[in-house]
Amino acid sequence: MKMHFMRNKIILQVIAWLLCFAGFLPGCAHAARTEVPALPEIPPPAGLRIAVASDLHLNPDSRPKGSNPAQFEFSLELADALLSDAKRQGAAFLILTGDLVNGGKPHRHAALVQKLKKAEADGLPVYVLPGNHDLDPITQTDFAEFYADYGYDEAFSRDASSLSYAVIRDGLLLLMLDTAGYSAGAINLAEAPGDTHAFLSDSTLRWAETMLRHAKENGLLTLCAGHYNLLPAMNRDEENSGFYFENADKLAALLKKYEVPLYLSGHAHTRAYYRQDDLHELVTEYLLGYPTGYSILDIDDETIRYMPWRVDVDAWAAETGQTSKILRNFAQWQQDGLRDYSEENVRYMSERNPLSDRERREAADFFYYVMDSYWQGTLHDRRETAESLPGCEPFFRCAEGYAYGWWLRELLDTAAPELQGFTITRR
Ligand SMILES: [Fe+2]
Repeated sequence: MKMHFMRNKIILQVIAWLLCFAGFLPGCAHAARTEVPALPEIPPPAGLRIAVASDLHLNPDSRPKGSNPAQFEFSLELADALLSDAKRQGAAFLILTGDLVNGGKPHRHAALVQKLKKAEADGLPVYVLPGNHDLDPITQTDFAEFYADYGYDEAFSRDASSLSYAVIRDGLLLLMLDTAGYSAGAINLAEAPGDTHAFLSDSTLRWAETMLRHAKENGLLTLCAGHYNLLPAMNRDEENSGFYFENADKLAALLKKYEVPLYLSGHAHTRAYYRQDDLHELVTEYLLGYPTGYSILDIDDETIRYMPWRVDVDAWAAETGQTSKILRNFAQWQQDGLRDYSEENVRYMSERNPLSDRERREAADFFYYVMDSYWQGTLHDRRETAESLPGCEPFFRCAEGYAYGWWLRELLDTAAPELQGFTITRR
């Protein structure tokens, strides 16, 4: 049973990752036929507001082609739209939890640094972390030089054996951990265990504890961030090489010992929430996939409140005079792309497990409904509605033997209300 569960979790993660990487949103030349969920009202900042985004995968070498571009080809524009949106929402600063670029070539980092420079000039400080796509060919030393103004020069302390650092501001200690420090040959190679999974050296953990002790003694609230996910059970599985975090338990125990309430990560490309005792983990989604989301955290003396948010690309495109029709109508384009994706996958699966035309339409409606609800964070509320749709039974019949069957079942069974927002009470 446990193996079955693990297998499903791994399949889920892999599919989610593939979906995002495939930039699963084909362009739609036809008229809109989906309803774009309205952006909810977001209250003005109460206390300190922080924005967290992840996996920008900036790639100036991959630009929109033809009339049918994929969303990831707009990485330059979406990075600009994110920076503008976070400022507009009143964020005091922005944390980027790694995979800043799509492969660590110097000109890709240089392109991002240009954008961050403008954001800082506009009043939005940014703190970055390396992910598994950020180093090689650039080295750790290069990375710290590129991002000197985005964490490393301002650091209260830097770890000597990784790109981890700590910043103190606004009553917070930001413990920024380089969980992917192995990827281009860790600074301290003797302690690096391999090249495909996350690891923190003993010396980094000792440095982190020094920081945590300092925060405790000085009454600072610690927020910890790293690229790799910390709490999901699947990360303990060595076979799951892209997600395995060798000493995740040690880090989780250390954070709990110092009563750190929240660990921020990315990497998985899906929005997710985990909890172990009083330690919460928020996984911020891939910027280049539906729904172009990021995280907003409001912090006051008593609580930390998380709100998922969607970059208003349309507003940014209008403000900056973009001429691309896709960018000016981005939310609708993206929503239609999700619809297309649902139809294409049902059509593909029904080649092996045939459905009538009507069943195929209804199965696609069901697929779209579940996907849309999941990505909006509302699936926990809509589970019963989803399961009562006429396309539910035909979908699972058609998806028999395909990972999508396990995946949608898993989504329906596990969707958590926290994906729509949560509040942590500070102790
Ligand atoms: Fe990653």
